[in-house]
Amino acid sequence: MSVTILAIESSCDETAASVCVDGKILSNYIANQTVHEKYGGVVPELASRAHLQNIVPVVDAALKQSGHLLSQLNAIAFTQAPGLIGSLLVGVQFAKSLALALDKPLIAVHHMQAHVLANLINESPPAFPFLCLTVSGGHTQIVLAKSPLDLTVIGETIDDAAGEAFDKTAKLLGLPYPGGPLVDKYAQQGNPLAFKFAEPQIPELNFSFSGLKTSVLYFLQKQTPEFIQANILDLCASVQYTIIQILMKKLKKAVQQTGVRNICIAGGVSANSGLRKALQEDGKKYGWNTFIPPFEYCTDNAGMIAITAYYKYLAGDFTTLDASPSARA
Ligand code: KG4
Ligand code: ZN
Repeated sequence: MSVTILAIESSCDETAASVCVDGKILSNYIANQTVHEKYGGVVPELASRAHLQNIVPVVDAALKQSGHLLSQLNAIAFTQAPGLIGSLLVGVQFAKSLALALDKPLIAVHHMQAHVLANLINESPPAFPFLCLTVSGGHTQIVLAKSPLDLTVIGETIDDAAGEAFDKTAKLLGLPYPGGPLVDKYAQQGNPLAFKFAEPQIPELNFSFSGLKTSVLYFLQKQTPEFIQANILDLCASVQYTIIQILMKKLKKAVQQTGVRNICIAGGVSANSGLRKALQEDGKKYGWNTFIPPFEYCTDNAGMIAITAYYKYLAGDFTTLDASPSARA
């Protein structure tokens, strides 16, 4: 018998739904919330309201795209943690109501585990064990994956996430939110060695990005707006270069420590063209097998929730109707 799962993701500012059959993603529908742009960041209250408006049409679209009916579902999955509590609540409550109405099992998924397993949505997925550098707006982790449900965080940020480093430095440069994709675009036309910013010395496999933000701030305070404007491409390229250096140095260290040579990246920042190139170049240089999820599965999406839920379904890992979301992991 085949296994058909509907998955819902609502942890931050994207309302998303996906249908997968036997681990194959048939639809991956995302409604981006543009309401936050004018505030320079996600406004939690507005995000919850937008989820409430989006959830029914998004689930409907994902089902239609997949060619499946509600009656064909074997389970309903949702993102349980971490995220904005009001945003999570909308997805959790919707999934619970649907499971109750259809009398189908419920599967709770951890958002960060799902980012890692997005790598399995691939024509030739990585073999286990693999290492995954998960870099998003809220997290920066190196994860050792021994099987789909056996993941261990072996390094993480002690302050800002890599995505925050992109967004906060972009803000200092006067760029609109979220700055990451724009820094990426400008960096492609700039000189990464034009300016030098502080790289932290953090023990083990952990990361820190708050020093970079301060280093960029102090540098910019000494410059005129005209200088910043005239050098925006080089500034973006240099900031991006520093972030990638910080990430890749720790990833190399993790490879040395674990001996694992299947290396993945995941999360919103894995959409960054400079990071993707750096991973491929280091892969060639050091003999790693490298993997990057297709673009649409890098930033927040429900396809990654669906694939994770599929493995949980196979393991019989279900939750109950009294499940509740959690803002923290
Ligand atoms: O995984 P994600 O969509 O949401 C979270 O779970 O946080 O990641 C969003 C983060 C934002 O900080 C955004 O600026 C960053 O990913 N991002 C990028 C790029 N695309 C998205 N950062 C750098 N370059 C990009 N191309
Ligand atoms: Zn995410």
